[in-house]
Amino acid sequence: MHDHPAAPPPDQFWDGFYRERDQVWSGNPNALLVREAAALHPGRALDLGCGEGADAVWLARQGWRVTGVDISAVALERAAAHAVQAGVDDLVTWVRADLADWALSDPDTDPGYDLVCAQFLHSPAELPRDAILHRAMAAVAPRGRLLVVGHQDFPPWSSHPAPEPALPTAAELAAALKLEEQGWVLETAEPVPRTVKGPEGQQVVLNDNVLRARRGV
Ligand SMILES: C[S@@+](CC[C@H](N)C(=O)[O-])C[C@H]1O[C@@H](n2cnc3c(N)ncnc32)[C@H](O)[C@@H]1O
Repeated sequence: MHDHPAAPPPDQFWDGFYRERDQVWSGNPNALLVREAAALHPGRALDLGCGEGADAVWLARQGWRVTGVDISAVALERAAAHAVQAGVDDLVTWVRADLADWALSDPDTDPGYDLVCAQFLHSPAELPRDAILHRAMAAVAPRGRLLVVGHQDFPPWSSHPAPEPALPTAAELAAALKLEEQGWVLETAEPVPRTVKGPEGQQVVLNDNVLRARRGV
């Protein structure tokens, strides 16, 4: 017998999360995506766990053709509306899929993406993040880039407990993915501090992890 009710399946968890508010995220792109991708030559991009679509819309505004993937139909509906409002809907394709079993690309028929990115692809529901990021590597075209931005620290006021074990640093993630052994060039692998304000006005410095790597030929 279990003492706790079963956790909801990931799609139900995330649809419920997004339904709690009309808009969850700010609508602005993540600062570290902008920092890491602003100078890249636009091509084809894949955004894993794109949420309400602000990052995909920003990429499209820079001239990228983007595929945004998320498990939440509620989030994707908002993302599609954002793209229309921004006038870039012809550049973005939205895909509702569970990344746990979605084939990111077929290396035999697909030339791959010039950028595969994941900003804060974390979940209190089940999420095989390492396996997804391994498959993300295979979806990157020769000389293309993988960009992973993630939490290191969690705010003490978060309604979701900090994961155990702790999330990997950028260097640990690079090692787990065996990037350098496979000929990838590490371009960024570092923690980046961010000051955030809590619900009672308290300020806390939290670290985010940034990993940007370029695939060899
Ligand atoms: C913390 S949010 C980050 C959203 C967005 N990348 C951002 O930075 O604003 C995590 C996102 O991952 C999505 N997600 C979680 N598990 C997923 C899965 N198994 N397959 C696809 N998307 C998933 C959630 O629906 C949610 O939109």
